[in-house]
Amino acid sequence: MVKIGIITGSTRDSRVNLQVAEWVKSIADRRTDVEFELVDIKDYNLPKFNEPIPAIMSQDYQAPEARVWSEKISELDGFVFVTPEYNKSITSGLKDAIDYLYIEWNNKAAGIVSYGSTLGVSAANNLRLILTVPKVATVGTHPALSLFTDFEEMRTFNPAPFHEETVQTMLNEVVAWSTALKTIRE
Ligand SMILES: Cc1cc2nc3c(=O)[nH]c(=O)nc-3n(C[C@H](O)[C@H](O)[C@H](O)COP(=O)(O)O)c2cc1C
Repeated sequence: MVKIGIITGSTRDSRVNLQVAEWVKSIADRRTDVEFELVDIKDYNLPKFNEPIPAIMSQDYQAPEARVWSEKISELDGFVFVTPEYNKSITSGLKDAIDYLYIEWNNKAAGIVSYGSTLGVSAANNLRLILTVPKVATVGTHPALSLFTDFEEMRTFNPAPFHEETVQTMLNEVVAWSTALKTIRE
């Protein structure tokens, strides 16, 4: 059974991110053939990235928090990133969480769910480009949520029902690619 991590993309105290990530998890949990886990980057308390480059290649991290983060990402076969858009890109918290690791991400698949005033499309496209370097293959189907129509007063998540089908299609693609890529890591 493949294990997919639903990774949060914002760490600020008043974030809406967790509402979106929990909604994705609730849709994912309707499947029984795959294990899904909500992985909240905020829980890992990663310090601002300050590792020597060989540490990334050898997984010999200086920051103890990075070792815990490394273990979590190592045990996952695929990911769904739930990202807001900050100044046309992802948050620095998510970027650091990605930058900390390399081998742990390699040859795995991911889907992207984004949100923002312009649906988080630029953040999602930036994230796709970022993930090419640690060799994460991102699927094409992209649920994109509007701060104006999928949230009440930009704070309370209340998504239009049609998004569920897009999430399910994205999950199907992530599971298929994660299953296929697992064979090249073994
Ligand atoms: C610093 C900052 C920059 C932002 N830039 C954008 C942007 O470029 N495009 C956009 O659609 N929304 C932008 N927003 C709006 C966020 O997408 C919105 O505040 C969202 O709730 C942030 O996610 P979070 O609450 O989970 O942290 C920005 C918000 C912040 C705080």
